[in-house]
Order: sequence, then structure tokens, then C-alpha cells
Amino acid sequence: MNFSTILYEKKNNYCIITLNRPDKLNALNFQLFNDLNEAIKLVELDREINAVILTGTGDKAFAAGADIKELHESDDLTGVHFSQHGSKVMYRLENIGKPVIAAVNGFALGGGCELAMACHIRFASENAKFGQPEVNLGIIPGYGATQRLPRLVGRAKALDLILSGAMIDAFEAEKIGLVNKVFPRAELLPKTIEFVENMLSKGILAVRTALNCVLAADYLPLAEGLEYESRWFGKLCGTKDFKEGTLAFLEKRKPNFTGE
Ligand code: COA
Repeated sequence: MNFSTILYEKKNNYCIITLNRPDKLNALNFQLFNDLNEAIKLVELDREINAVILTGTGDKAFAAGADIKELHESDDLTGVHFSQHGSKVMYRLENIGKPVIAAVNGFALGGGCELAMACHIRFASENAKFGQPEVNLGIIPGYGATQRLPRLVGRAKALDLILSGAMIDAFEAEKIGLVNKVFPRAELLPKTIEFVENMLSKGILAVRTALNCVLAADYLPLAEGLEYESRWFGKLCGTKDFKEGTLAFLEKRKPNFTGE
């Protein structure tokens, strides 16, 4: 499928989505959100795809935020729709039911940082920079940073970033827990692919169920979350993968998972 603002590349059992507006530092415009929404639909409907890698074209930017030219046209009536349009796509990505890994290859500012946060794991290149510079534009983050950033790094550090509009480098982002791991630029994609391939060699039902349960921790009280986990644990005990995984351990051999 051809998109005008992203590239969609299907590999064996995962896909790579690349934000592709290099002359605008992959800024997130209306069309890009529509394209991303369509790509998410493709992933949802493709049983062969079990994970997604999200990255940006070029060495400079993952995404330098919402498209400020489009944003400038918003007023007090339309602004809410501007925010909801991108926010809904990011929420859909986060709830796609398959692990989404961001390979952050440069600036991840504003909506770019928010898009990375809607992914489940973030790897970054050494040149990556993160920030929520919206206050510099007289606005607040509109694609989830006020909600996801405190969940990821704690309220104080989230407020530090959001209230100052300051940028931090990849190593600082790793230190505060915004990024899982930093790699030299040339290694970013190979290492991300290595992570994904290793993950997909496990029992895929277990991988997807673990993701589902961890996401549920955001909205369930502890007692309900524990019950939710137990119920899914029980369901997995009824799968072929579970029988195979445990039998392979007992027989001292590698498991042969089929995803059933
Ligand atoms: N929206 C629209 N266009 C953007 C953009 C954005 N968020 N970020 C960058 N661009 C465009 C620039 O306007 C420029 O386009 P032009 O060549 O047609 O003038 C092009 O991308 C290159 O950006 P430029 O600013 O020249 O690169 P730089 O290396 O000097 O600076 C940044 C890089 C990321 C520091 C700078 O582009 C920036 O601050 N961008 C906005 C970040 C932001 O505030 N994001 C939050 C938006 S809510």
C-alpha cells in the first residue's frame, strides 16, 4: 500500500512504519495522521504481523512535532479537534494489541515525543533529542504528554520538561526512563530489529497477553489488575504454546511455538 507521508514495509512477521516528510523534519500533519491510521488498520487486520517498528526518515528527526503551519490555523473552536485527531490515532496505536517499538532516530519534539510515548518501548540513537516545547508556542501538549509523560517518568520530571519546554538528549532521556536504551545511529535499526526478532521467537500469545495486562495496569485498581492477570494466566494455560513451552523445558530442548 502506498502512502504519501509514511512508508509501510512488511517483513516476515512484523512491519516497519517510517514517518516520511524529511523536508519538514517528519512533522505530523493531518495527512500523516490519516496515513498512520490506515497503516494501523493494516496491522490490525494482518494476522502475520505481530509487532511494529516505528521510525523516521533521515538522520535528523523522528518527528519535530505537530505541523505548526496547520496548528497555527486553529482557534478556540477547532483546536479541540486538532488535538483529538492526533490523540485518537496515538491511542489506537497504543492499543493495537501487538508490541510497538519506537526507533527514535533524531528530534522527538512535541507530538514526536508524544508519538514515541504511545509506543510500548523506545530505543534511541545517540543524536536523538526529546522535549515538549509547546509552551514556547503559547500552547500545551495536545497528543497525550500531560498524561503519558508523568506515567513514564513521574510528575516532577514530566513537569520539568513540559513547563520549561527544554530539550534533553538521548542519554538524559534514558536516565529518566523515557527511553529504554540508546544506540549509535548506525546500530539503532539493526538493534531494534534484533529485539523484535528475539521477542517474536517466544510464545506470541504470551507476548501479546503480557502487553495487554501491563497496559491494563494504567486503568485498573491493583486488586482488579491482579484478578485480570490471573484470568489471562489461566487462559494461556489452555494453549498449545504453553504445553509446548513447559514440555520443552522438561525435555531440555528448544520450544517450537506455533502461536496456538
Ligand atoms: N511543523 C512544521 N514544520 C516544521 C516543524 C514543525 N513542527 N519542525 C520543523 N519544520 C520545518 C521547518 O519549518 C523547516 O521548513 P522550511 O525548510 O520549509 O523552512 C524544516 O522543517 C527544517 O526545520 P528547521 O527549523 O530549518 O531545522 P533546524 O535544524 O534549524 O531546527 C528544530 C530543528 C527541530 C530545532 C526546529 O525545526 C524546531 O524547533 N521545530 C519545531 C519544534 C516544535 O516546537 N514542535 C512542537 C510543535 S507543537
